[in-house]
Amino acid sequence: MSKALEGVRVLDFTHVQSGPTCTQLLAWFGADVIKVERPGAGDATRQQLQDIPDVDSLYFTMLNHNKRSITLDSKNAKGKEVLWRLVKECDVLVENFAPGALDRMGLTWEKIQEANPRMILASVKGFGPGRYQDCKVYENVAQCAGGSASTTGFRDDIPMVTGAQIGDSGTGLHLALGIVTALFHRTHSGVGQRVDCAMQDAVLNLCRVKLRDQQRLERGPLREYSQFGEGVPFGDAVPRAGNDSGGGQPGRILKCKGWEHDPNAYLYFITQGPVWEPICDIIGEPSWKTDPNYATPKARLPHLNEIFTRIEAWTMKHDKFEAMDILNKYDIPCGPILSMKEIAEDQSLRDSGTVVEVDHPTRGKYLTVGSPIKLSGSPVEVARSPLLGEHTDEILRSVLGYSDAEIAEIEGSGAVGQIQKLAAE
Ligand SMILES: CC(C)(COP(=O)(O)OP(=O)(O)OC[C@H]1O[C@@H](n2cnc3c(N)ncnc32)[C@H](O)[C@@H]1OP(=O)(O)O)[C@@H](O)C(=O)NCCC(=O)NCCS
Repeated sequence: MSKALEGVRVLDFTHVQSGPTCTQLLAWFGADVIKVERPGAGDATRQQLQDIPDVDSLYFTMLNHNKRSITLDSKNAKGKEVLWRLVKECDVLVENFAPGALDRMGLTWEKIQEANPRMILASVKGFGPGRYQDCKVYENVAQCAGGSASTTGFRDDIPMVTGAQIGDSGTGLHLALGIVTALFHRTHSGVGQRVDCAMQDAVLNLCRVKLRDQQRLERGPLREYSQFGEGVPFGDAVPRAGNDSGGGQPGRILKCKGWEHDPNAYLYFITQGPVWEPICDIIGEPSWKTDPNYATPKARLPHLNEIFTRIEAWTMKHDKFEAMDILNKYDIPCGPILSMKEIAEDQSLRDSGTVVEVDHPTRGKYLTVGSPIKLSGSPVEVARSPLLGEHTDEILRSVLGYSDAEIAEIEGSGAVGQIQKLAAE
């Protein structure tokens, strides 16, 4: 079966998390992704958070599957020559260097277009044009600047970042969509274009509902937020709402049996309007079905604390999976709080290819997250990440057509470091 992006060649000049997330997706969908790394060092994440000495970290391996690695010093004269050959051979260049770094390497958009008018140049930066455009940015900075931190956590506490990497991986996802869109556009325009995605913008896009609430707030209190029922006045900006759910379907995280010793013995419970009657029966409050204080979604809003306290008295009698089984029979929307351990051991996630075991020559077996996007005609097979410079010789030879003598000269110049000759696996 052919892969959706077969024939697309990507010059992957990315590092850390945001860029590699994007190019890993392209590789999963069949693009030939050539990761360019600095000789001797490579992507800094190879050495970060190492759990086994001198072995590529899980941080690196889990973001760089299905890619090939070439080492290349982009500041060495011979290295620059090789880099320009790659620019001519590739369809897409993806980078997430600090602002201005690509230009300083001599890879300006004008020169790239001159060398390869079909090239798509995709970049992640922390901020778009404006007062912060020159700043270096990491995940949590983007979460803070994109509106996530000010709206996450509890009202009485400090702003909170989330564990989901919406700044890095979230931006990588946005960028991948921009790239495939530009590739489609190129099929009829014949030319490439720039694809820029700022981490602040990507986070804000994911916080869209909070900008919605900001404007609603100007017209009155946000009635679905717990603080409304608690009689706490709203300020002039969207507050942190704890675990309240938006969209007018009030929800909370509730304790389940075992919560005293298990930090994840909790269930998310949503009091969706159409299933209010079965909720009342299950929790033992059948009179709430007709009581004017509880019978309609609007009437319930000022009583959310009381309602969820009553529901919690029921959930605390069941473990989270038991509660799920009972509630699902009535289509009551709810979900267990799953720990990473439970997720790693979940058989259905293994069966669907969302959690995958990968074998690595120096690390051995490890778990990773496979593609969350499933294409019926282009299934993803997760292949291990490359060792540093593993494919340098192969790429110089088969992609760029260099001869033995030319490769020896390139190696001698220091542009690619020492080419590794690996024994076949
Ligand atoms: C992530 C980030 C903060 C890291 O900063 P950093 O570690 O200082 O790395 P930089 O991107 O500044 O690159 C450092 C240098 O390495 C150089 N370099 C990178 N690859 C090279 C190679 N193969 N050969 C030679 N030099 C190389 C760059 O040209 C740059 O040199 P310069 O500063 O002289 O121009 C920064 O890259 C950034 O803000 N990126 C955009 C936002 C982003 O993606 N952030 C999230 C990361 S998950």
